[in-house]
Amino acid sequence: MLKKIVFLGTGGTIAGTAAHAGDNVGYTAAQVGVGQLLRAIPSLQQALGDQGFMSEQVAQVDSKDMGWAHWRNLAQRIQHHLSQPAVDSVVVAHGTDTLEETAFFLSLVLPQQLLVEKSVVLTCAMRPASSLAPDGPQNVLDAVAVARSADLHGVLVVCAGSVHCARDVQKVHPYRLNAFDSGDAGPLAYVEEGWVRRLHAYPAMEMPVSDFSIDALSKDAWPRVEIITSYAGATGATVRALCAAPGGTEQPVQGIVVAGTGNGTIHEDLESALREVQARGVRVVRSTRCAYGSVVVGAVDSDFPDSQGLSPVKARIALMLELMS
Ligand code: SIN
Repeated sequence: MLKKIVFLGTGGTIAGTAAHAGDNVGYTAAQVGVGQLLRAIPSLQQALGDQGFMSEQVAQVDSKDMGWAHWRNLAQRIQHHLSQPAVDSVVVAHGTDTLEETAFFLSLVLPQQLLVEKSVVLTCAMRPASSLAPDGPQNVLDAVAVARSADLHGVLVVCAGSVHCARDVQKVHPYRLNAFDSGDAGPLAYVEEGWVRRLHAYPAMEMPVSDFSIDALSKDAWPRVEIITSYAGATGATVRALCAAPGGTEQPVQGIVVAGTGNGTIHEDLESALREVQARGVRVVRSTRCAYGSVVVGAVDSDFPDSQGLSPVKARIALMLELMS
């Protein structure tokens, strides 16, 4: 019996259109509805057989504009669909720009008992739907193959024939179709002509997972956590400005993730400003701006905990959820 899949649309380039079919960069993201996108993939109907597909437009945004309300709504809809006994997986069409953040967020907030046996597969495109040679349709077909696979579960990302886990995946290229990479961990699997060739098992989470209730996640008052980068000539000015008394309706900064140089090292001026704000209660986490590897614990004597291998954007999400729980 074929597994039942629900498709959710959130926008992105996969749903984008340009004035000319030859234009793969001057397009507007999030223009085509998910139902229309799916109906335009003839072999998808074949792949799904009698089961057909059920789709829902959860958002219609360029993913650079994703916000907490989008995430909360998406998590709620995924939880709703995965809780149906007849549904085995949810495929989410998403923009590439913040896809790794959404995937990681979902992997932390969705109930773990659903993720151990079902899958959430995020897919995307680097070329708009109007392109002469769009990559979205093949990515959707590959996502369906992964959603059907009995070997893979959890929150997964499928792009250009590679399957990545939410924790490791990162967008590494602004243009090429194979825009994602899982760094040292490598991809979990490849999809080849509809067949999934698994390389690794889904990694066990290396950080404590709190028991979140998605419905209890506040819509607008999520903790404010900012990211700053250390570089040659960095000063403490940005940190002091960020942590000065907020004006108007601005939320105070509760946490800062530092994308440090190399092994998470931080310019001394920036570091001393971070120590000052940490002493006033702001949580500071040390990550690295390097694309590969993670901060090697013990090599640096620091007052700031390291991000446990998370990239700066993911460390921010983990800290935000920790502050909320
Ligand atoms: C977006 O992230 O929504 C636009 C860019 C893309 O999907 O490639």
